[in-house]
Amino acid sequence: MEKSITKTNRAWIEEQAPEMEPQRQFYYMDIAKQLIAEREAKLGRKLTYYVETFGCQMNARDSEKLRGILETVGYVSNDSETSDFVLYNTCTVRENANNKVYGRLGTLGSYKKKQPQMLIALCGCMMQEAHVVERLKKDFRFVNLVFGTHNIFKFAELLVAALLEMDEAGKREKRPKMVVDIWDGTSEIVEDLPIQRKYRFKSGVNIMFGCNNFCSYCIVPYVRGRERSRDPEDIIREIQRLVADDVVEVMLLGQNVNSYGKGLTPEINFPELLRRIENIEGLERIRFMTSHPKDLSDELIAVMAQSKKICKHMHLPLQSGSSRILKAMNRHYDKEQYLLLVEKLRAAIPDIAITTDIIVGFPGETKEDFLETLDVVKKVRYDSAFTFIYSKRSGTPAAEMENQVPEAEVKENFDILLKEIQSIATQKANELEGACLPVLVEQMNEQDASLVTGRLSNNATVHFPGDASLIGTIVDVKLTECKGFYYIGSRA
Ligand code: SAH
Ligand code: SF4
Ligand code: F3S
Repeated sequence: MEKSITKTNRAWIEEQAPEMEPQRQFYYMDIAKQLIAEREAKLGRKLTYYVETFGCQMNARDSEKLRGILETVGYVSNDSETSDFVLYNTCTVRENANNKVYGRLGTLGSYKKKQPQMLIALCGCMMQEAHVVERLKKDFRFVNLVFGTHNIFKFAELLVAALLEMDEAGKREKRPKMVVDIWDGTSEIVEDLPIQRKYRFKSGVNIMFGCNNFCSYCIVPYVRGRERSRDPEDIIREIQRLVADDVVEVMLLGQNVNSYGKGLTPEINFPELLRRIENIEGLERIRFMTSHPKDLSDELIAVMAQSKKICKHMHLPLQSGSSRILKAMNRHYDKEQYLLLVEKLRAAIPDIAITTDIIVGFPGETKEDFLETLDVVKKVRYDSAFTFIYSKRSGTPAAEMENQVPEAEVKENFDILLKEIQSIATQKANELEGACLPVLVEQMNEQDASLVTGRLSNNATVHFPGDASLIGTIVDVKLTECKGFYYIGSRA
């Protein structure tokens, strides 16, 4: 780029931009690099960034992609919300996720008053809701950049737009306009953009985006769009590159990994994808999330049972144990079918850990319905479970349902459920005391420098004596003591 970037040549920048992705984004990364370098020269220091992720593993992976771009254009990471660039990658699955973001924005606004050069950006699921963007425009006008889930691949381009807008507003001595770009959906999947991983030895890998299930309580299909699977070749290539870069464990990510492959030619399903990933040399462990019970096939169970690399862990969201409520939730399975799946899993893989998600207080849930859920919990004996109080999401069918359950009753049931889950989880964890099992060492222990911390195949945490040379390796560890949710061990 010969010209320095000014208002007069903004049109020129756009004119020169390649149409094709990802080339277009690399072009904008070059421009952003130049803009950042100009700012650094003026300030006489590096520019810093801070990214905070709300929500699920999909968002965590998206944040790694955003960081990849920020690092490429010259920002340096730091841990402070007073950085030059602050980005919240938001979640809207429950109301409290939204409230958290609004609360934090208030604080950011006060930082920005003192440091007007700060660039504040918001992205992620919450931004896909029109009422959120309206509120931002009204109450949080200091936000510089807002984009959604479908155009996250355009981050470099949007960043350039926000940086240029800041420069131009500075010249006009006006507040920069909020750059807002939200799409309704996309069928596009852009590959090969930079990624900055959080962990050296493990990584999430998207295998599909979006969701078609429309569970009646859930907002995800509205904010993440229709289900689309990545080409298996792209997935394999990504994992091969990760393995060449020291990764030994991958977590395959999708809202419903069991329906992977729909719409792809040649045809492929999730078990077949797993078989291909299993063959990648150097890869040691494969995890995946999330499995919808309605699509969990016998073929998948068989592949898991035969595999040497797939971890012995299945996260199988139950949501409710009442067949009546499951129907109202649009889950497409009933209590008996769910229990049968668990039986099949345990028959094929006896030491499998099973975890789940449960919602308490779905509209119309009676005490009898709740007791059905409790019954499933006692029968399955989950290794752990996430429990959620039903949260009304506007735009979903459940939000329109009558008989929203009174708060006090929900709270009472929630506490009963939590107690039961914790008691079973502790008993189950104790059953492994004394066992000798492989552990992937992930990091030094945060409190005690003589210990390292790693995970079992079933995802439980183990702390044991060791040094940094073990990080990224899999070693056999004897679980000498169970501490409820984690183990203390020693090298076997
Ligand atoms: N695709 C995954 C889950 C994504 S959301 C699946 O189908 O299992 C993660 C969890 O949030 C869900 O499993 C559900 O238990 C919970 N959840 C989703 N919407 C909710 C709502 N409106 N209120 C409370 N919990 C909700
Ligand atoms: Fe939401 Fe259901 Fe899709 Fe999971 S499967 S993301 S709970 S709609
Ligand atoms: Fe939240 Fe979006 Fe994940 S709503 S749970 S961050 S898909």
